Amino acid sequence: MRGGGKASGLLRLQLISLSSVLFCRIGLSTTPPPNPTENPSLQNAFVALQAWKKVITSDPKNVTGSWVGTDVCSYQGVFCSPPPDAKFGKVVSGIGLNHAQLAGVFPMELGLLTYIAIFHVNSNYFQGTIPSSFSSLTLLFELDVSNNLLAGGFPSVVLEMTSIKYLDIRFNHFEGPLPGGLFGMPLDAIFVNDNNFDGIIPSNLGDSSVSVANFANNQFQGAIPNSIGKMATTLNEILFINNKFSGCIPQPVASLNQLNVLDVGTNKLSGLLSDSIGLLKDLSILNVANNFLTGIIPSSICSLPNLTNFTCSNNYFINVSPTCLSLPSAGVIFDDIGNCIPNQPLPRLLKQCLTFLLQPLSCLLTI
Ligand SMILES: *[C@@H]1O[C@H](CO)[C@@H](O)[C@H](O)[C@H]1NC(C)=O
Ligand SMILES: *[C@@H]1O[C@H](CO)[C@@H](O)[C@H](O)[C@H]1NC(C)=O
Ligand SMILES: *[C@@H]1O[C@H](CO)[C@@H](O)[C@H](O)[C@H]1NC(C)=O
Repeated sequence: MRGGGKASGLLRLQLISLSSVLFCRIGLSTTPPPNPTENPSLQNAFVALQAWKKVITSDPKNVTGSWVGTDVCSYQGVFCSPPPDAKFGKVVSGIGLNHAQLAGVFPMELGLLTYIAIFHVNSNYFQGTIPSSFSSLTLLFELDVSNNLLAGGFPSVVLEMTSIKYLDIRFNHFEGPLPGGLFGMPLDAIFVNDNNFDGIIPSNLGDSSVSVANFANNQFQGAIPNSIGKMATTLNEILFINNKFSGCIPQPVASLNQLNVLDVGTNKLSGLLSDSIGLLKDLSILNVANNFLTGIIPSSICSLPNLTNFTCSNNYFINVSPTCLSLPSAGVIFDDIGNCIPNQPLPRLLKQCLTFLLQPLSCLLTI
């Protein structure tokens, strides 16, 4: 039985913890260790953090130099507070080791930090992946392992961590597809950008409750799912920039009436830029540059009250509304260079425009 296996594993760790504490006491500790029967949670934290220290291979800032003795609450980067269940006086409630320049891995024993709400280790050199024992971190709210050297498929243990609101695994070396289960989680933010993820975005994207989703700078392909329109009451920012998305910009995007940022730049999107995007009253940043879009750059978009940067360069647009051309004089960034618009600066070559525009209009363009 899986649950039983996990439990006995933890028990074994607790026994190890007991012996290492006794050992420590005889050896070098000057402060008396917490009584294990009074606060097993701090005992477990001690085991977890010593196991972690053991697999840290580089620590130029000597962060773990303070990780000695059993008073784990005095360790650098380790935070304690009273637990929500009031079972103990205090527990380890957070790990804050951003920019610590640590190298190593995350050991299984970190699953013993069952009271942590925050695990922030961004901008280090951690390798490997997120261990399965993280499923024991049932209070974890923010998981930020961004800007490390983590690799392998999407860390599937994340799908079992139902208390997470903020998931940040960007700037690592993760690869392969995203699981559909990701969008069934009650998350507020998903950052998976700047990895090597590929495959399609699962069609249930729209089930996600996030306000921010960043898929940028991966190798995603296929269509942006139509279900995106279901995120109308929650979504503020979504970024797809620099992937290989194809097809048209899905029409249901026009119902995302809380949207501030839409970035689909540098993909292989085709078809028209619908003037219904001009319904997105809160839209501030719109980037559709470097795609295969054509038709007219709609005035409805250029009339949006909160627009600050509308970039539509390097497409095959054939006309632009005067409303758009007057945006810069109102302090709004508007960039439409590299299109097929007569009398605009730096257009595409006439030959390129003709070849492209002679094809039938389609969402299935293969270029
Ligand atoms: C690392 O920090 C510990 C505790 O702060 C200190 O005792 C030790 O001398 C330091 N080591 C180095 C190499 O600076
Ligand atoms: C525009 O921005 C302002 C301030 O940044 C904000 O209060 C407002 O709700 C936004 N939306 C619209 C439609 O003006
Ligand atoms: C406007 O948006 C484009 C596309 O995202 C970006 O490259 C550019 O830096 C932005 N301009 C400013 C001033 O933010």
